[in-house]
Amino acid sequence: MTNLTELHNIDDLRRAAKRRLPSLVFDYIDGGAEDEVTLRRNRSAFQDIGLNPEILRGVGTRSLATTLFGTALTSPIGVSPTGGNRLVHPDGELAVARATGRRGALNVVGMFSNFTLEEIAAVSDGPKWLQLYLWKDRGLLDSVVDRARAAGYTAICVTADAAVFGKRERDLRNGLRVPPKVTARTAINVLQRPRWLTHYLRTRDQVTMANLRDVPGAMGKSGPQVIAYAHELFDPDESWADIDRLRERWDGPLLIKGITHPNDARRAVAAGADGIMVSNHGGRQLDGAPSAIEAMVRVIDAVGGEAEVLIDGGIRRGTDVAKALSIGASACLVGRPFWYGLSIAGEAGVDRALHILDDELDRTIGLLGVCSPDELRPSHVRVPPSWHDPVTARPPVDGSAVSASPIGGA
Ligand SMILES: Cc1cc2nc3c(=O)[nH]c(=O)nc-3n(C[C@H](O)[C@H](O)[C@H](O)COP(=O)(O)O)c2cc1C
Repeated sequence: MTNLTELHNIDDLRRAAKRRLPSLVFDYIDGGAEDEVTLRRNRSAFQDIGLNPEILRGVGTRSLATTLFGTALTSPIGVSPTGGNRLVHPDGELAVARATGRRGALNVVGMFSNFTLEEIAAVSDGPKWLQLYLWKDRGLLDSVVDRARAAGYTAICVTADAAVFGKRERDLRNGLRVPPKVTARTAINVLQRPRWLTHYLRTRDQVTMANLRDVPGAMGKSGPQVIAYAHELFDPDESWADIDRLRERWDGPLLIKGITHPNDARRAVAAGADGIMVSNHGGRQLDGAPSAIEAMVRVIDAVGGEAEVLIDGGIRRGTDVAKALSIGASACLVGRPFWYGLSIAGEAGVDRALHILDDELDRTIGLLGVCSPDELRPSHVRVPPSWHDPVTARPPVDGSAVSASPIGGA
């Protein structure tokens, strides 16, 4: 049994998850598209930003609490939307909902969950949003929006960076199927993971697209049929007109996930989006897309103050969160870190991942000389000047040039 208190950072959790999961499952979570350049850059870009601490500022009473769209959050760190959580633990999305709910952290539930959105909502009173893909069947999409409202989700988040699927070569090499199939090539590796195997044998029939339970033809598929069916649902012709439609149907906060281009950020604001989730899908879609944090700098230059800007991709440290918040993010989400925790110990593991990040953020703000994430300012970071793009940045009100200063402006 893994002793969670001996896992001190997200990398420790990752190593423990790697020991726990068969490589084809671990690779599915950990991998990215093609040469994984964007995946790696998501991490390394954070290391290119420096922090500017201030001392002797009385930081004895600190709190991570913040508010987003009028909802109180105990921390600006939440969980990114993902599907198929039962692949690594039988409690899947319920464990994530319970852990985030108990902590009062934001849970963005993925629409490809293995429990229905109603089942997930029922186990937690915590802040929850629902992620949507723009499915071809708009009637189906509308029905999910209505179900989200009825189940108490307070915002919807439309993932718009998956019109076409990224080429994830680890999965291709491993012959990944849903549910995974044990072949002669993978058998030894899988047999060496008895805990995962026991869980999996118990629940493999439930690794399904639970939100489509009532949709004719959606269930009862296995192996390559599941992935093929999921691909069929997506609409490569999705466009801004679909955002207009959703905007009319959903009167609560609407966010668009997958924005990296400042022009798209502007377009999203014009389309009535309340929030922009800067994301490259954790490096799983377009390899060569900018790292999330570099893209976020330009998005904030373009639309900061006009919409809430959130980010995910490569966040593994409380210092990463502090950097993003200093530049202007309202909240930061994490994908793989909670998967690692979930794989190791279900709800307790997700809680451990979030605890580690919250604890690091709390220390970081104290060391920077502030008592709340809301007090973080661009002056707390040194951003490489080349990350700003004067062409796409909003012209400053006073007519001066966009800040390219190493401390990133005021
Ligand atoms: C295993 C896995 C499954 C994912 N599934 C979805 C999904 O169904 N919908 C979605 O919008 N993003 C999905 N994502 C992307 C995440 O929402 C998020 O953008 C990404 O994980 C953030 O990067 P990080 O893992 O470095 O924190 C998935 C990511 C992973 C790792």
